[in-house]
Amino acid sequence: MVVRGVHPAPVEVPDAVHALAGWYVGWGSVTPVWRNDLGGLTFRLEDAPLLSGPGTDARPARYLKWVPAGAPCPDPFAEAGRLTWARRSAVVPRVLDVGRGDDGAWLLTEELHGTSAIDPRWREQPRAAARAIGEGLRLLHDTAPVSDCPFAWTPAARTAALPPEVRAAVGRAPAVDRLVVCHGDACVPNTLLHDDGTFAAHVDLGELGVADRWSDLAVASRSVSRRFQDPGLATEFFAAYGVAPDPERIDWYRRLWDVVEQYRTRLRR
Ligand SMILES: Nc1ncnc2c1ncn2[C@@H]1O[C@H](COP(=O)(O)OP(=O)(O)OP(=O)(O)O)[C@@H](O)[C@H]1O
Ligand SMILES: [Mg+2]
Repeated sequence: MVVRGVHPAPVEVPDAVHALAGWYVGWGSVTPVWRNDLGGLTFRLEDAPLLSGPGTDARPARYLKWVPAGAPCPDPFAEAGRLTWARRSAVVPRVLDVGRGDDGAWLLTEELHGTSAIDPRWREQPRAAARAIGEGLRLLHDTAPVSDCPFAWTPAARTAALPPEVRAAVGRAPAVDRLVVCHGDACVPNTLLHDDGTFAAHVDLGELGVADRWSDLAVASRSVSRRFQDPGLATEFFAAYGVAPDPERIDWYRRLWDVVEQYRTRLRR
């Protein structure tokens, strides 16, 4: 089945996802909401109105994230472990199930309230979105305990699987400014906002881990400028986070991000 209306549309829903979604929602609805650049798909699952109507205990909607076998996306089991850990100190999705079959692996989470900063409504208020993303990262960096975090997202951890020549091209990392628990994919779509434009939650934490805070800040500031096509929004983002831009670290961590992404994209072909 091909479904239209998904970014970037249309989406071919794999048979395995039909089977899984049917198992989870019975007669309910399955709406594709996202396709990432590496072949991963996300669906919103909702119970049938009969099962969630007045007088019944409506279950919250759920998100089913599907990673086809071999796709170079973070493994759903890795994300499930990180979400479970992060929920102690941050607003992130609750894990309901995680599994693997011959065709791929999946993660089922409970819906969080809020709309993604990529939602068309925030195109009208990009400054609010930029600020919320900055506030959200500050909150995560300030509250998630580094000493208790079992996950690493340092340059060494991120490049460990890359061929030596690719690693060499990245060069030496700048000295660490401040070690924090980083989001790991702090791009615009992965922050949810409340209706009033304030930060609501983080999603997509398959790479959460301890690293210099500039690993997140470099990527988030660029994503904000690009998505809303306004370089000035980076200033808004840094002000909301509460730090002055650090050009050297920003350049280095953006380059690291690009090298890793290019390598993954090549793996997908
Ligand atoms: N539990 C949830 N509650 C609310 N929205 C969710 C939830 N899980 C996922 N989403 C929505 O689905 C989108 C896709 O999920 P997610 O970001 O985890 O997928 P992804 O394929 O890893 O994304 P990316 O392209 O950023 O790598 C999110 O941007 C968010 O809008
Ligand atoms: Mg995402």
